[in-house]
Amino acid sequence: MTSVSNMASERMQQVKPSASVVVSQTARQLKAEGKDIIDLGIGEPDFNTPAHIIEAAHQAALAGKTRYTAMAGTTELKQAIADKFLRDNTLNFSPDQVFVSNGAKQVIFSAMLATLNPGDEVLLCAPYFGCYRDTVLAVGGNPVTLPCHERDGFRLTPETLRSAITDKTRWVLLNLPSNPAGAVYDELQLQQLGEVLQEHPDVLLLSDEIYEHIIFDDQQFISSASALPRLADRILTVNGVSKAYAMTGWRIGYCAGPQDLIDVMTKVQAQVSSAPCSIAQAAATEALNGSQVTVTEFREAFERRRDFVVSEIENIDGLTLTKPGGAFYAYIGCNALLGKKTPDGKVIETDTDLAAFLLHEAGVATVPGSAYDMSPFIRLSTANSDENIKLGLEKIAAAVTELQT
Ligand SMILES: Cc1ncc(COP(=O)(O)O)c(C=O)c1O
Repeated sequence: MTSVSNMASERMQQVKPSASVVVSQTARQLKAEGKDIIDLGIGEPDFNTPAHIIEAAHQAALAGKTRYTAMAGTTELKQAIADKFLRDNTLNFSPDQVFVSNGAKQVIFSAMLATLNPGDEVLLCAPYFGCYRDTVLAVGGNPVTLPCHERDGFRLTPETLRSAITDKTRWVLLNLPSNPAGAVYDELQLQQLGEVLQEHPDVLLLSDEIYEHIIFDDQQFISSASALPRLADRILTVNGVSKAYAMTGWRIGYCAGPQDLIDVMTKVQAQVSSAPCSIAQAAATEALNGSQVTVTEFREAFERRRDFVVSEIENIDGLTLTKPGGAFYAYIGCNALLGKKTPDGKVIETDTDLAAFLLHEAGVATVPGSAYDMSPFIRLSTANSDENIKLGLEKIAAAVTELQT
């Protein structure tokens, strides 16, 4: 019989299953076996999609908006996205420069498939959303890790960027605020990166701004494209409705950028899915055009939870946390726990071991830093109820005290 590994292309053999999905599946399985598990692994808002957005989808379906739409998205949604970019980011895009797909993930996949030749390099700022690496591998590119150290707020420095660019570099991927570390860049920091890119006219910049609205401490979000107007012809700004509007299941992500890039991406989409779901596009149009009250409410909830997690982690010996400036995660350092022994004598050698210990012994699902290409850390998601976060942290604190030197 043919084995699955033989069926997979060489490219797909390199692609790993998403670590947070694997953690959540294990958590679900343990729950099904009757174990008490708190899932702080998954990265999706715990809120429901606001009712006015659901109503817009309902009305669209009743009005017969149930057919294929234009490949890069409906005129209404592309206009709403262009309006959003102007309103929130002072960016001027015509609707023709906008592309809509089935989630930001598919936007990024389309961009990579559209532009990478075998061996082209894509620079990734570790710790990074693991899907970036796997997307690049899936389309035959070569992901290159750029360590962004905790001492630099997990931000990419101009020196690191400069030393990593080669004549094979095709893209730099930035994520602001970042998953998993919550790194936020100010205008000057972006401009300093822009100066390096100015020296390399063939390098493209993808700025994933899906956590744009989840930013704390009254910081002003700055889009890469608005900080770097001179690079406008090679920046792809990616965003989506999943995180800001609690719409992960609707699968709408979007981007805007240079027309010729958008055209090739549309060619990709024509073969992959023809277009995104018509009803979900109507919902996303309402999300962007309608009341933004819930965006603020969600942000406030995530900030309250961030503050709570920061104060609790301070009291747990062996764990450290640089205050995240945005997004809904805490990237918790666990170096001091490596080498310790669990009550049944196993040595915690890696963050993967620690995450496994916390899942099986404390009943709390977290994702190991190895999934984000920077160890030793564990990522905890605050996209869960205040009660679950409190209980999860109590259980983590109790489990950590059981570790022996
Ligand atoms: C940084 C980042 N980009 C993109 C996505 C995917 O978003 P979407 O649901 O729009 O595919 C995620 C989801 O976790 C993410 O963390």
